[in-house]
Amino acid sequence: MTARSSLTVVLAAGEGTRMRSSLPKVLHQVAGQSLLAHVLDAAPHGAGASLAVVIGPDHKAVADEVRRVRADAASFVQAERLGTAHAVLAAREAIARGADDLLVAFGDTPLISAETFTRLRAPLAKGAALAVLGFRAADPTGYGRLLLQGDRLIAIREHADATDEERKVTLCNAGVMAFDGGQALKILDRIGNANSKGEYYLVDAVTIVREMGLEAVVIETSEDEVRGINDKAQLAEAEAVMQTRLRKAALDAGVTLIAPDTVYLAADTKFGKDVTIEPFVVIGPGVTIDDGAVIHSFTHIVHSSVGKKALVGPFARMRPGTSLGEGAKIGNFVETKASTLEAGVKVNHLSYIGDTHVGANSNLGAGTVTCNYDGFFKHKTLIGEGAFVGTNSSLVAPVKIGKGAYIGSGSVITKDVPDDAMAVERSPQSNREGGAKRYREMKLRAKKPKEG
Ligand code: UD1
Ligand code: MG
Repeated sequence: MTARSSLTVVLAAGEGTRMRSSLPKVLHQVAGQSLLAHVLDAAPHGAGASLAVVIGPDHKAVADEVRRVRADAASFVQAERLGTAHAVLAAREAIARGADDLLVAFGDTPLISAETFTRLRAPLAKGAALAVLGFRAADPTGYGRLLLQGDRLIAIREHADATDEERKVTLCNAGVMAFDGGQALKILDRIGNANSKGEYYLVDAVTIVREMGLEAVVIETSEDEVRGINDKAQLAEAEAVMQTRLRKAALDAGVTLIAPDTVYLAADTKFGKDVTIEPFVVIGPGVTIDDGAVIHSFTHIVHSSVGKKALVGPFARMRPGTSLGEGAKIGNFVETKASTLEAGVKVNHLSYIGDTHVGANSNLGAGTVTCNYDGFFKHKTLIGEGAFVGTNSSLVAPVKIGKGAYIGSGSVITKDVPDDAMAVERSPQSNREGGAKRYREMKLRAKKPKEG
């Protein structure tokens, strides 16, 4: 049996007015990834699977996100918002190419899984013309209701158009549908706008399929998977559901999460074996944590990699582009950015390391700061293997510290330091014998009230 080809059309033309935001709705994030990216990730991939996204006019940022996530996807603009069926037809050109299965999904349902798309397609291979994803809603208000006769799907009624009796139905339309590709355009072109809102409703496809003497079926899923996001409260609920999933997946993969509910993960976080994450850690997108690493409490990591057995935190901040080598260590109040710290490097306390390459086994003392920005440009700091940077040193970039070099504490280093050299940049110390005592006595005399 040859695999069926598919076209997934993702509807994302909505304004998202209820988000009360200048950002288009589908670009809001859950687990460090846009709502749209979650849906595009779940949609069928690979040979024979094509994608089209319907976006609103002036939504260039959405088109950019589509390109970033799935370079193979085409974007179509729906110039006027005339309803979900009208939106699907904005991708007519792609639909007309005639994939075996046409899938329609909403860009604001980020919790949908790839397995659900597969389940929804199964009835098409057995001859159904339409499969609709349904769920039992705790509160069905606002959703389209799935009307069954026995176990046959006969219609979907939008809340606004439903009778009191129909509103009692709790089986609802999730919005995801799969059409037999050969029939899809015929069905979609027959959808009209005779309803209370005067919109072209995708849900009317069910009645049309019935009128054509074809079969429409329901595939059920859980409410959590099809939560649509319309406002910030729903965004936060979806985040909670996603975090629960990600924590469970991490625990199942053997990650030790001491207090799972306090750890925030991203959809793309990658873990090796025997990783431990202490309470109150935030991991943003693009993070890889290798075998045996420990992330101590109150650490924040984004777009970075943590090597085998590396130790991070407590209270560390790894900003984008940090790579920590095997057994490297960054401790409390250490901030890193666009830097590579090779194996065995230690930056234990109170440091800023930016645009820097640190060779293996170097030790950067407390308060080491790379001065990478001159107010106009960013510059690089290069530190060789086995170097030692004394406490409270400023390394003014661009600057190069040689292998095995030693920087005296408190130095402001503005010139390159050769391999194995010792650089000390500070004024010579002067000790005045008895000076402290004389100073104290002088001050005490000045403080005493005048006699007489
Ligand atoms: C829709 C369904 C409803 C279902 C619910 C599930 C229809 C008519 N109704 O209702 O049965 O229970 O979702 O959440 O399909 N969009 C466009 N262009 C348009 C209109 C909508 O791109 O002209 C997009 C929106 O951006 C959104 C999706 O289609 O991603 C759904 O539209 P929305 O207005 O949220 O539909 P609901 O009223 O929620
Ligand atoms: Mg909606």
